[in-house]
Amino acid sequence: MPTKDSITVRDNRTGREYEIPIENGAIHASALRNIKTSEDDFGLMSYDPAFMNTASCKSKITFIDGEKGILRYRGYPIEELAEKCKYLEVAYLLIWGELPSESEYKEWVHNITYHTMVHENIKKFMDGFHHDAHPMGMLVSTIAALSTFYPDAKNIFDEGSRKLQIHRLIAKIPTLAAFAYRHSQGRAYIYPSNDLNYTENFLSMMYRPSWTTKFEPNQTLAKALDVLFILHADHEQNCSTNAMRSVGSSHVDPYSAAAAAAAALYGPLHGGANEQVLRMLEEIGTKEKIPEIIRQVKEGRRLLMGFGHRVYKNYDPRAKIIKKVAQEVFEVTGRNPMLDIALELEKIALSDDYFIKRKLYPNIDFYSGIIYQAMGFPVEIFPVLFAIPRMSGWLAQWQESLTDPEQKIARPRQIYIGYGERHVPPR
Ligand code: CMC
Repeated sequence: MPTKDSITVRDNRTGREYEIPIENGAIHASALRNIKTSEDDFGLMSYDPAFMNTASCKSKITFIDGEKGILRYRGYPIEELAEKCKYLEVAYLLIWGELPSESEYKEWVHNITYHTMVHENIKKFMDGFHHDAHPMGMLVSTIAALSTFYPDAKNIFDEGSRKLQIHRLIAKIPTLAAFAYRHSQGRAYIYPSNDLNYTENFLSMMYRPSWTTKFEPNQTLAKALDVLFILHADHEQNCSTNAMRSVGSSHVDPYSAAAAAAAALYGPLHGGANEQVLRMLEEIGTKEKIPEIIRQVKEGRRLLMGFGHRVYKNYDPRAKIIKKVAQEVFEVTGRNPMLDIALELEKIALSDDYFIKRKLYPNIDFYSGIIYQAMGFPVEIFPVLFAIPRMSGWLAQWQESLTDPEQKIARPRQIYIGYGERHVPPR
């Protein structure tokens, strides 16, 4: 008699029945391999392009309920973390599983702060890029280049080495990001300042004039950036995290895996979307043009950037928090005129049948770009601002996958639909 936590599958080709156990609401895809028409049959596979309904891992890091609009890191609701914690506490939580005690936090901040400097040769490397190189391209390349500076990083099963590379990557990514920006502006690089906190230091490396050592970042803006970093830190198995896990599964060093993850984030459907949202809002320009844009979207001629999500079929909880952050930022910077267009666009889209039927709501990228622009960041740097905090999520997921005994090198199957054997004609 079959147990309760299982399904019974009847193969109509053979009339045979199979019992497949259900664990954590899933069946093991390899259980399907027992379903065969003959002894030499390969066995049944599941076909799931874009992983629409396939879990690639078990994870304890981030929980999302897309229907209810819930996001939690290690069990803590994103709303509480954004309100009560600092980004580096959240990074610690993601990577080590618990919020740090006071002494753990002190040590963690010290380790991150004292790894922010990069090798001088990185500057030469950066100088090699053309003046109009996209900062995200420069970031991806320099993250990869770090692997050549730290050959010890290949000892991925040495806990101490892993910890050191985690410190280095979280510490150095703001430095690389700021250097990429300064290069694109033709301005001198600014070294990290160890007396500033994580976001203050980043703002200093971005904006401090090179002729002075004095720079006092605006506290409201530094705090708002910290909240934005918390919101972007992890989002379970998204495209770039999947790249981190997949490339990491070959046991390459974490710099190479993180460069692959950053490359995945660069795309306009993922971390590049915030840049595309701003370009779209700039193109729209006035509220009067919104109905025409909505018409083009409904005719399938374009996407409404910053709308829709693979997992959320409800309002993205991060977008709600961001709207609040926007108000705080605008009190300092003045209101970004793009906000009015965005609010109107959201209003019209959310009352339109096309969007309601498809459960398309604003995602995190819809408002983040407007805030970044008000803070003075150029549009090209937006995906870089996503990559900086997502590094902690990538590293948490990478470490979890390396220490998971069920994981192996990622290697999907395919369904071959090409030619059967054929022969090269005489020539
Ligand atoms: N504008 C217009 N129509 C859309 C949009 C959009 N932004 N997103 C989805 N749809 C439509 C899509 O055409 C499809 O319609 P139909 O059923 O008639 O073919 C339906 O909604 C389902 O869409 P899908 O493409 O099957 O959904 P997906 O889960 O494969 O795609 C997505 C998710 C985020 C890639 C997509 O919604 C999108 O391209 N959005 C715009 C880009 C964007 O804002 N990306 C940021 C995502 S959040 C940050 C991150 O995690 O990186």
